[in-house]
Amino acid sequence: MSFDLVLFGGTGDLAWRKLMPALFQAFRHGSLPPGGRIIGVARDELDDQAYRALIKSRFDRVDLDKRPSQEEFARFAELLHFIRLDVTKPADYARLAELLQARQADTVVMYVATAPGLFTAVCEQIAAAGLNGPQTRVVLEKPLGHDLASNRAINDTVRRVLSEKQVFRIDHYLGKPAVQNLFALRFGNSLFEPLWRRETIANIQITIAEDLGVEKRGAYYDHIGALRDMVQNHALQLLCAIGMEPPINAHADAIRDEKLKVLRALKPWTVETLQQHVVRGQYTAGNLGGVAVPGYRDEPGVPANSQTETFVALRAEIANWRWAGVPFYIRTGKRLAERDARIVVNFRPTPHAIFSTPPGAANRLVINLQPKDGLELHLLAQADQRGRSGMAPLAPVQLDLDFDKRFGSERVGAYERLLLDVIAGRLNLFVRSDEQEEAWRWVEPILDHWRHSTHEPRPYAAGTWGPSASSAMIARDGYCWSEEC
Ligand code: BG6
Repeated sequence: MSFDLVLFGGTGDLAWRKLMPALFQAFRHGSLPPGGRIIGVARDELDDQAYRALIKSRFDRVDLDKRPSQEEFARFAELLHFIRLDVTKPADYARLAELLQARQADTVVMYVATAPGLFTAVCEQIAAAGLNGPQTRVVLEKPLGHDLASNRAINDTVRRVLSEKQVFRIDHYLGKPAVQNLFALRFGNSLFEPLWRRETIANIQITIAEDLGVEKRGAYYDHIGALRDMVQNHALQLLCAIGMEPPINAHADAIRDEKLKVLRALKPWTVETLQQHVVRGQYTAGNLGGVAVPGYRDEPGVPANSQTETFVALRAEIANWRWAGVPFYIRTGKRLAERDARIVVNFRPTPHAIFSTPPGAANRLVINLQPKDGLELHLLAQADQRGRSGMAPLAPVQLDLDFDKRFGSERVGAYERLLLDVIAGRLNLFVRSDEQEEAWRWVEPILDHWRHSTHEPRPYAAGTWGPSASSAMIARDGYCWSEEC
C-alpha cells in the first residue's frame, strides 16, 4: 500500500518535536509501509535537499538511542520531500495537487499541524484543489476551536468537504501505551468488571502533572490555559476510557458511541458546583529539583497581569446507573512537583473491620501512564508477624506490574502509533466530532464562570502539587489526593 503523508507546518514545532521523531521510529521499527513519501509543506524557501538537511540537523540534538546513524538517516531521508506552500494561496495547492496526482498513492494523509486558525482555510483549499477524494485522510491537531461555537464552525467546514470517516482528530493521550492497556484491562479481562461500579468504588482520581512550565509557548498558552489545553481533551478522554460501558465490539464507532454517552452523562454545572468543585491556579516562582524557576507571569510572552490558569482541579460526576454519586476528580497543571500522569481507582473500605488497619486504608488500583507505564494494585496484608501473638495489624502491600520491564521500554510511542493508524485508516483512537462538541459543551460554563469572576487564579509555588484549595475541595468529600494519603 503506497502512501503520501503531507505535513502542513512541516518546519514547525510539532513536526519537529513529535511527528518527525515518531515517523523515524516507525521507519526504524519497520512498521512504516514501504513506498511512502513524507512531504513537508511550509512557506520556507527550501527544496528536498535543504529540507532533509534541516531535519538531519534537528536529529543531531535528540537522545543518542533515538538518533539515526548516517546510513539510517540517508535511507529515511529518501522518503522526505518538501513543497513551498502558502496555505491561503490556491495556486500553491495546484502545485501540491500536481505532485500528488503524478504518483496516485493509495492513501494520501494531510496532517494539518499549522496554527489552529488555519484549519478551515486548509480544508477548504484542499477541497477546492480537488484533493478531498476518497483516498484522502485529514488529521487535525488540537486545539480544535477555543469554545463550543468555534469548534462547531471548524467541524461544519470540515464536514462540508470531507466525510467523518476521512477525519482523524488527534488526541495523543489515546495513543499512549498505558491507555491501550486500560482498554485491555477493562475489556480484555473479566476480573475488574464486576467491581467497576458505584457499589465498590469510592472515587476515581485522574492526575496529569507536568514539571515543565510553559517553556517558549507563553504567548500562545496565555490564550489557552490548562482547561482548554488539557482538560477538554486529554483528561476527559481518560475519564471516558475509565467510565465507559463495554463497547459491543472494537470498531471505532462502537468505542466512540460509548465515550460519547459518558460525556453526555456528565452532571451539568450549577452556580454552586462551579464555585465549590472547580479550582484554578497559576504558578508563582519556586523550586524544582533544586533549581529556582520563575513564576508564570515572568515567563517570556506572558502579560504581567495574566489571569490564565496553569492548573485546574475539578470534581465531576457521571450521572448514570453505574457511577451515580462517585466523584471523579481531575487535576492537571504545569510546574507541579513532578511529571506524573496516573489514574487512581480507590475502592471502598471493607463494610466491617475485624482487623486493625491504618486509617483510611483501602484497596486501590493505580494505572500509571507516565513516566512509568504500569499497574499497581494496593492491598492490605499481615506484613510483619514476628514476635507477635494474635493478629498483627494490617499493612499496605502492593502488586506492581511494570509494563516497561515486561514488554520493553522501546514500545511504540503515542504519535508513532497514531500516525500508523491514520495511514492504515483505523479510527479507533481518534475523536469524533460529536464527542469533541460534547466535551466543549461541558467545559464551557467553567470558562464563562471564570470570565465573569472577580477572583484571580489561586497562586501555587512551582514545584508543589498546586493550590491548597485543590486538597480542600477533595477533603470536603472526606478524601485526599493519592500522594497525600
Ligand atoms: C499537549 C499540550 O497536548 O500535551 C501541552 O498542549 C502538554 O501543553 C502536552 O505539555 C503533554 O503531553 P505529554 O505527552 O508530554 O504528557
